[in-house]
Amino acid sequence: MFITFEGIDGSGKSTQLQLLAETLREAGKKVLLTREPGGSALAENLRKVLLESNVSAQAELLLFGAARAQHVAEVIKPALADGAIVLSDRFADSSLAYQGGGLNLPTDFIQAMNQFACADLQPELTFLLDIDPLAGNKRQQLNHQKPDTIESRGLGFLERVRQAYLQIALRDSQRVIIIDASRPAESVQCDIHNALQQRGVL
Ligand code: TYD
Repeated sequence: MFITFEGIDGSGKSTQLQLLAETLREAGKKVLLTREPGGSALAENLRKVLLESNVSAQAELLLFGAARAQHVAEVIKPALADGAIVLSDRFADSSLAYQGGGLNLPTDFIQAMNQFACADLQPELTFLLDIDPLAGNKRQQLNHQKPDTIESRGLGFLERVRQAYLQIALRDSQRVIIIDASRPAESVQCDIHNALQQRGVL
């Protein structure tokens, strides 16, 4: 089973992913926790380039696509074939939300790129951790996280990203579950567990 977590920076995805991986492992499941951009040697190198240097919007999108293709082929598909539950911190929806919503690049091209990169792989379930950008930003400051190139694009950018995510969730309501991430971590965790119990995963 392939499950992804999405949301703007500061939505608490990483904390929830760690908690869920622990819970699933305690329940005796084989779990692979991975992230985008990243998860393979090529993708980790691309991650550095993407987050630290000044690349054009078009190049940025294609690099995320390249990283995704490698991640799918080298990490996600083999783990699924091995019977693991794969949890990914970000996946294809991030490109639609950030490069599509945030940077206004054409959505139809991004969809085609994602299809090409993912080779028919789609998450069965996606948790969208929804939070107001200002609240997300405060949370990041509390955690003393330094903003990278993409995060430092500002609140207006993140608001467009958030709206794009919400539209994806509306279009694909079977797959995407919106979780109010402004609440304490325990409440968010509880909603995630309930959703997984309903689907027989937990
Ligand atoms: P990361 O440090 O992993 O941020 P977070 O902890 O919030 O996930 O950096 C990933 C950044 O890359 C994040 O700002 C979102 C952005 N991103 C895109 O713009 N497009 C994409 O396709 C992906 C996968 C990530």
